[in-house]
Amino acid sequence: MKKFFLFMCSFFATACVFAQGSTYFKNISAPKKIIVYYSLTETTARLAEKIASETDADLFRLECKVPYSNGMSEAGSQSKSDKENGVHRELLAVPDLSSYDVVFVGTPVWYSGTANPVETWLLSADLQGKKVVPFCTYWSTGKNETLNEIAELSGGAEILEGIGQAHSQSADVSGWLKKIGMK
Ligand SMILES: Cc1cc2nc3c(=O)[nH]c(=O)nc-3n(C[C@H](O)[C@H](O)[C@H](O)COP(=O)(O)O)c2cc1C
Repeated sequence: MKKFFLFMCSFFATACVFAQGSTYFKNISAPKKIIVYYSLTETTARLAEKIASETDADLFRLECKVPYSNGMSEAGSQSKSDKENGVHRELLAVPDLSSYDVVFVGTPVWYSGTANPVETWLLSADLQGKKVVPFCTYWSTGKNETLNEIAELSGGAEILEGIGQAHSQSADVSGWLKKIGMK
């Protein structure tokens, strides 16, 4: 009986040490996440907020000092002219990525590629050693080109599988986040 009692005590003590140990390691290894995105007409913003609510990631919205017009056709001609003339609009602020392990990068598709402000930011961002997760929203075309462009502009980063959400579609954000180990 005494032996059994001692055995049970040592069993519980060992279990407690392991339980505490695993919580400890879980806490120190939890990756810190941020979502950096641009949105003109709020579609990408809504997707970014959905990802944030499922991952506890911080949100950072890129804004231009001289913003694009809100109307599609005006923004279309402004961004077309910027693209043709190699103009990168200056950003109001950029995120400090130093404490983050994972950076979600979100953009609307503009002419089958990243929107100008996202390209501008990626060209100067230091993503060395980070995990980058691209996402985009679009009307009907340019998803793969855009996700690939984000990957190409994220020098030194490990690229995880991205997601694109077409007009009137509701992407399976939860399933995707689980698949890439972010949830
Ligand atoms: C300048 C400009 C270019 C666009 N180019 C494309 C395109 O090549 N392919 C596409 O499917 N949608 C294109 N769109 C539509 C947007 O990608 C789509 O509406 C997106 O969801 C808008 O995101 P936002 O609301 O976050 O700005 C374009 C929109 C703009 C303003």
